[in-house]
Amino acid sequence: MRHTKEWSATVEAADAVVLVTPEYNFGYPATLKNAIDYLHQEWHHKPVGFVSYGGVAAGTRAVQQLKQVVTTLRMLPVFEGVHIPWHPRFIADGRFRGTAEMRRARTVVESTETARSRSSSASAWATRAVNR
Ligand SMILES: Cc1cc2nc3c(=O)[nH]c(=O)nc-3n(C[C@H](O)[C@H](O)[C@H](O)COP(=O)(O)O)c2cc1C
Repeated sequence: MRHTKEWSATVEAADAVVLVTPEYNFGYPATLKNAIDYLHQEWHHKPVGFVSYGGVAAGTRAVQQLKQVVTTLRMLPVFEGVHIPWHPRFIADGRFRGTAEMRRARTVVESTETARSRSSSASAWATRAVNR
């Protein structure tokens, strides 16, 4: 299917991934699981950061669930994340205006890039160790 091939190429080409998720009934939506499950080796060893939103828990429980899934796909979750509670409160005139903490999105991406270089070093080290 064309959309699957395009999705595969998009994820394959990425150095790292940031997943954005709402929270429904303490979990992440099935649409996100479907998007993840469509691929396999494309996800391997990619650092993954999280941006979540929802009610009082700001989507953090959805992220906890996602961490189990992404580690099964050998991804490397980044600890830092952006979690937005009651997100409509931060939307004015059609624009999202987050707090200073929320602007930590930049930290997520930077951490994700850092993890990527760590992952490359770790994988180079493992390759050397195996080939010894
Ligand atoms: C049926 C339902 C269950 C929800 N459960 C949670 C929840 O467990 N935790 C939470 O933080 N927010 C919860 N919410 C709030 C949603 O996260 C919020 O409405 C969010 O905007 C949904 O994202 P979406 O509009 O992009 O689909 C729930 C909303 C609905 C309608």
